[in-house]
Amino acid sequence: MIGKRKVERLLDEFPNEVEYHRSDDHVVTCPTELYLVPTPIEIVVEILRKLELTPKNRVVDLGCGDGRFVISAAYLYGCEGMGVDVREDVLELARAKSETLRVDDKTIFIHSDVRDIDLRELNPDVVFVYLMPSLLEEISEELVSCGATVVSYTFEVPGLGVPEVLRLDDLRRAYVYRGVSH
Ligand SMILES: C[S@@+](CC[C@H](N)C(=O)[O-])C[C@H]1O[C@@H](n2cnc3c(N)ncnc32)[C@H](O)[C@@H]1O
Repeated sequence: MIGKRKVERLLDEFPNEVEYHRSDDHVVTCPTELYLVPTPIEIVVEILRKLELTPKNRVVDLGCGDGRFVISAAYLYGCEGMGVDVREDVLELARAKSETLRVDDKTIFIHSDVRDIDLRELNPDVVFVYLMPSLLEEISEELVSCGATVVSYTFEVPGLGVPEVLRLDDLRRAYVYRGVSH
């Protein structure tokens, strides 16, 4: 059972109305596929709740943005987590927020293209993705081969089989592909 106060703290830290992609010049000029369109924090919390995470679980977010999945998993469930993004400005946000919420000892945010990540080496239990379908297709084999549970917000991932569909509200969906090796 997650404490209400902890969820409220996350809502304060990750307000949904913030439009990061309009917040500075660098971001305004970045290509569409690199827009930070964050998953609403109440959706993050709901997805994490359904995964029944424990402190033994290691999570990775490919295209982590401000780090809300990884930080929330660490803050609410004590998980260790890694976020990966090509945008240094959003990684800075993630690092700052993980310090504010005092989970910086459990989380790490690295600058990389998700296509260059070796997931088998990282050996995660859960991988989060909220990426464009064309990029999901490109990394699909890597996702399958690592054996982790893959959670994709909004888009299905080709090549991962039939997902469990999380109906988060009338419109929003997450697709869960249960891992094989954990
Ligand atoms: C839709 S946002 C999702 C952010 C976060 N995962 C969430 O759910 O709130 C997509 C993020 O993926 C990052 N991204 C897009 N393509 C990428 C790539 N090839 N390698 C690494 N990061 C990428 C963008 O910079 C952006 O921060």
